[in-house]
Amino acid sequence: MNGQDQNQRGHWGSKLAFIFAATGSAIGLGNIWRFPMVVGKYGGAVFVFVYILAVALVGFTVMLAEMTIGRHTQRNAIGAFEKIKPRTPWKIIGALGLLTSICILSYYSVIAGWAVGYFVKTVSGTFKGGITSQLSEQIYTNFVSNPLMTTVCFFAVIGITTFIISKGVQSGIERWTKILMPVLLLLILYLAIKALTLPGAGQGVSFYLKPDFSKLNGTVVLFAFGQAFFSLSIGMGIMITYGSYISKSDNLVTSAGWVSFSDTLVAFLAGIIIFPTLFAIPGIEPTAGPGLVFKVFPLIFSKIPGGNFFGILFFTLLLVAAITSTISLLEVSVAYFIDERNWSRKKAAYLLGGFAFLLGIPSALSSGGMKLFTDIDFMGKFDIIFANISLAVGALLICIFVGWIWGIKKPVEEVRSGNPRFKIRLLWLFSLKFFSPIVLIIILIFIKKIITG
Ligand code: PHE
Repeated sequence: MNGQDQNQRGHWGSKLAFIFAATGSAIGLGNIWRFPMVVGKYGGAVFVFVYILAVALVGFTVMLAEMTIGRHTQRNAIGAFEKIKPRTPWKIIGALGLLTSICILSYYSVIAGWAVGYFVKTVSGTFKGGITSQLSEQIYTNFVSNPLMTTVCFFAVIGITTFIISKGVQSGIERWTKILMPVLLLLILYLAIKALTLPGAGQGVSFYLKPDFSKLNGTVVLFAFGQAFFSLSIGMGIMITYGSYISKSDNLVTSAGWVSFSDTLVAFLAGIIIFPTLFAIPGIEPTAGPGLVFKVFPLIFSKIPGGNFFGILFFTLLLVAAITSTISLLEVSVAYFIDERNWSRKKAAYLLGGFAFLLGIPSALSSGGMKLFTDIDFMGKFDIIFANISLAVGALLICIFVGWIWGIKKPVEEVRSGNPRFKIRLLWLFSLKFFSPIVLIIILIFIKKIITG
């Protein structure tokens, strides 16, 4: 990489800026939209239980591995593998990551577009004066099946993302995340307390937190792991790309630990808002799927004082959280085209953003906007292929690469720079070499059965 590329790539201003950006990538719709959706669909508390194990035992391991590769090589997701093992097929891991990130970006931005639509609805007073669950269902269905509205909102999200990325890492990403993520956390905490004090919330709490282990099966495990990778933004090289901007004196273990912890905390609190509300105000099923969060949040806003204000604040922050994730999804490919293909940042951002937009149109139309895409559930299929299967494959290959191919000495040395004692070294290596790959292989072997079964 020459000096000019260095300038094109940009750098984090400080350690904190990296942490905020990585946390910003991790925290997003995955925590607030997707987590409650899959918990509701796949058994409630037992899912939460497996999810936490997945984050702690496998997710953290892979995140630290990705950051280590990134900082060691100072390269993008494909270039990093090429640098460590030149002229070998290992860079396919990076290529798979690029493909996955653009595909996830395409439908993720559709959902972020729904948040734009709900923001506009809240501002214009649609939910003012309280609504019933029935009305909430109706508002949701009318909105997502409107092809023009959903596509325009989707376009807005891709447009904002592309614009920020075209301006570069530092000025783009840092500014957003520093102030707004803590505000989001406070708001979510407040709403969680409100939800817990709704009359009849108890049933929701036990659905969410009292595991019924007879519901434990392969599907729960598959989706819990997929959700963990999705939520942590791992398995596709995002943390390689972001890690490539970290300074050598930073502590990678605490960085990975912090990102995993805060991401899990936000998802957990989102569940604390959704499930008690859902049971306290009956009419919407936990298995409602992609619409769950959009149907339930307006209900809680209609139950608390100043609800409209909190609604506006919530959808604004949800959108910010989503955008800090979409920019990370786009940055993976943009960094590659800048580093390896000598494209300018602008050209890479606009071309790839435009591509993601075209790719996302079927998803935008798959919730009733167009019969063909609705019938095949285009977005649902994309989500399973990329968020569950592809991320698990990516995570598996990263474990194998760092644990077996790179040779243990180099990654351990890399982590030690900035963390000389590296206390959890043996645990990490055990998970990286044995535990995580074995779990992932088992999941992948059973995937077909689970999905068709
Ligand atoms: N982790 C993000 C979220 O939870 C989504 C995402 C997935 C971002 C994969 C980047 C990569 O919203």
